[in-house]
Amino acid sequence: MWDDLKTRADAVAERRIETLFEDVGRARDFSVSALGMLFDYAKTNIDAPTRDALIALLDKADVAGRREAMFTGAPINETEGRAVLHTALRNLDGAAVTVEGQDVMPEVLDTLKRMEDFARAVRSGAITGQGGAITDVINIGIGGSDLGPAMAATALAPYHDGPRCHFVSNVDPADIADVLAACDPETTLVIVASKTFTTIETMTNARTAKDWMGQAVSDTGAQFAALSTAADKTADFGIAPERVFGFEDWVGGRYSMWGPIGLSLMIAIGPEAFRAFLRGGEAMDRHFRAAPWQQNMPVMLALVGMWHNQVLGHATRAVLPYDNRLARLPAYLQQLEMESNGKGVSMDGEDLGVHSGPVVWGEPGTNGQHAFYQLIHQGTRVVPCEFLVAAEGHEEGLEHQHRLLIANCLAQSEALMKGRDLDEARAKVAGKFEGDELERQAKHRVFPGNRPSTTLAYPKLDPETLGKIIALYEHRVFVEGAVLGINSYDQWGVELGKELATALQPIVDGKESTDGKDGSTAQLVGFLRANGS
Ligand code: F6P
Repeated sequence: MWDDLKTRADAVAERRIETLFEDVGRARDFSVSALGMLFDYAKTNIDAPTRDALIALLDKADVAGRREAMFTGAPINETEGRAVLHTALRNLDGAAVTVEGQDVMPEVLDTLKRMEDFARAVRSGAITGQGGAITDVINIGIGGSDLGPAMAATALAPYHDGPRCHFVSNVDPADIADVLAACDPETTLVIVASKTFTTIETMTNARTAKDWMGQAVSDTGAQFAALSTAADKTADFGIAPERVFGFEDWVGGRYSMWGPIGLSLMIAIGPEAFRAFLRGGEAMDRHFRAAPWQQNMPVMLALVGMWHNQVLGHATRAVLPYDNRLARLPAYLQQLEMESNGKGVSMDGEDLGVHSGPVVWGEPGTNGQHAFYQLIHQGTRVVPCEFLVAAEGHEEGLEHQHRLLIANCLAQSEALMKGRDLDEARAKVAGKFEGDELERQAKHRVFPGNRPSTTLAYPKLDPETLGKIIALYEHRVFVEGAVLGINSYDQWGVELGKELATALQPIVDGKESTDGKDGSTAQLVGFLRANGS
């Protein structure tokens, strides 16, 4: 399968993508329209036989069977023996979803209702702090307990009509110090978001916040809430059960923003807008489950990505939202994709044989254009680019700026594909230079082109559309993981660093010696201790 695809890649290596547009139907045929969005992958070197070969990967890996297994609660997270059911969190029609014979939906919907009641009470002032209505919410969490709601709160800023929201994640005291300095402890609600309620960064920051609040507030428990699967640990921390919003271990951290981990977002934008976000995710679930492969947006997004990474060997992928409020989307996707599919062995412990998921990175356009696009256009490595752009912005009276944004987005994918050859470059500098100098100057102005990109276009970044986009990316990860035979739902690769950090702490504190550590680590400890406090 992979060999066949690699042979195809070799055969088309010299082909210019733009020549594929001699087929006048290409744009339509190499796009997926669904749920009011358009995913255009026509500006890639994928032709019909290549697409067929990519689609054949799906059947070989029984992606359809695995997809049903996920949606119906089978324990597809095999290394942890867990179901993978973040889709149940947005299953608003409440149709039964069973795990080990038990329908999980009554509890999911009950928790959603509790979250909504709590969010409404905070927003209306029925729940207050010691000093009156809640003005600030601080979400303390990291990884999946931070990136989702933080990304979405930025994305949905035009819908933010609740208290201010802050997100603290880093154990670096600078993070929490800056946020606490901007808040009044008497009118602040602290939400401790941690699936396990053991993560050292989160628990350290939570204790710091509790101490800060305790200096001004007599009943800190009344201004804390917890989002966790570990009810015993939240109780030990002093958070009353009615302030704990629980979920089950079948919700992975990086897939958890649809449930309790989304509480800060719900308080910010309100329960109705949060439901619209869930509806968007639910609509994408239905589409993913039913659409034929070639019209299936998550499937085609995944296959295009695999063509670029596993077949052509492009190690990174740039995510370039021409939508400033999606500034945190690349960071969110880094966890979603790289923690899910950054693995070297398949489910049965065998070496993968092809590359795992790509390095994902990016920044919003147009900012990136004035920073790293130089390398994307003229560097020696090919970086497949994934553009996202809305037809419409939120800023009334500034529509001309939005159109300029769109023009820039479309210009980049066109420039990447077409490039500029030496003759055109010569024409650019003719008149300014001549002879050898003209040749030399012209060469600097050549753009190789033939660089692939895709564009996801959508009407407007509203809550429902954001829900569709996030669910689209989640299912893309699923498809890639299923084809590779990876378990996309564990994350053993984060453990070693955690263990070593725990062991290093007493050494950094000066309570233990560096004996047994490598020379570099010992030297760094020595420098940092000698120059720190
Ligand atoms: O260390 C990685 C990780 O486990 C992520 O998978 C997770 O999202 C994050 O840490 C935070 O975990 P928790 O929500 O349990 O604090």
